[in-house]
Amino acid sequence: MIKYLGSKRRLVSVLGDLYERSASESALDMFTGTTRVAQELKRRGAYVTAADSARYSFVFANCHITTDAEKSDAAQIQEILEYLSQRPGYKGYFTEIFCRESRFFQPFNGEKIDAIRDAIKNEFSDSAYHDVLLTSLIYAADKVDSTVGLQMAYIKEWAPRSYKPLKLELPELLPGGGRALRGDACKLVSELTPVDFAYLDPPYNQHSYYANYHIWETLVAWDNPACYGVARKREDNKSEVNKSVFNKAGRMPQALGSLVSSLSAKVVVLSYNNEAWVSLEDLVAMCSHLEHVQVLAFDSRRYVGAKIGIYNPQGTKVGAVSHLHNLEYLVLAGERDLIEYMVLPYREKKVDLTPVSAVG
Ligand SMILES: C[S@@+](CC[C@H](N)C(=O)[O-])C[C@H]1O[C@@H](n2cnc3c(N)ncnc32)[C@H](O)[C@@H]1O
Repeated sequence: MIKYLGSKRRLVSVLGDLYERSASESALDMFTGTTRVAQELKRRGAYVTAADSARYSFVFANCHITTDAEKSDAAQIQEILEYLSQRPGYKGYFTEIFCRESRFFQPFNGEKIDAIRDAIKNEFSDSAYHDVLLTSLIYAADKVDSTVGLQMAYIKEWAPRSYKPLKLELPELLPGGGRALRGDACKLVSELTPVDFAYLDPPYNQHSYYANYHIWETLVAWDNPACYGVARKREDNKSEVNKSVFNKAGRMPQALGSLVSSLSAKVVVLSYNNEAWVSLEDLVAMCSHLEHVQVLAFDSRRYVGAKIGIYNPQGTKVGAVSHLHNLEYLVLAGERDLIEYMVLPYREKKVDLTPVSAVG
């Protein structure tokens, strides 16, 4: 899995357990990013809709969520990946921009990426496996990049992994169907059919995913964009259409509130961390149109308790939030009995989580 800011790698199994206890059949992962959470929900039997504004995220969702492993021919995909791996590398846009004008990849890997990406475009654009191949290429590139996980800058000296040759591998395909959507969550929400379990993991600060992962955007769009700055970001990064309201302090709380209230879901689960612009209290208040709200808080290693207590439909708060350092929260809202049943294991036992890191 790729390195990704705000990835919920550490909370995936908790979210899977909560989904199971919610006795749901369908799920929405509204800011799906890497699709890690969506994949887990699919593994637990959900029919998942995975949505995000990023092009690469749509490709990952087509690979892991909409592609049905039982209807796919893994041997054939493997054969195509081997064919692609053997394409002789050559200097193209990718090598020029990301290996010479900047130093995100070693030129020998950049040349391979140019050749493989062109071959995917020229020979497999109609293939049912197009997005599986592209996902494989992005994962392979991520493993040999020379960054700390964000594409706003590259490491001064080549990262040790950048010396390794690019290796295409078969991405994990899961049995069953699902749906991938690309677009602005604020607009997509009106097109969604009701779901049982909705998970929302929006950005809560100024860090733009479009800018931070511009190389993946370009690798998918393959549109030779004009670029600028040391990191050779896409010129259209400056355009208003590629800016997210969730990266704007003044507009984010209202946008999130309206998104949550427009969702048609039996259970809403929101991810939150205490470095965000909105307060946990505000987040809980956004959910108070649902009958009952509970908050689970995790520190870097373990479940630390439901810090905030119960909210009634009028939004009256019971209990106080304790802002400890580096906490990850899950805000759960829905019918009282169901939410209480979902959080029961967390009342009874400590849950051990391995450390939460910003780029997972
Ligand atoms: C915190 S990350 C989600 C990480 C994800 N849960 C994971 O585990 O990989 C936030 C995601 O929101 C997406 N995003 C930002 N603004 C958006 C918008 N207006 N509509 C839809 N998605 C948006 C970003 O592309 C990013 O993938």
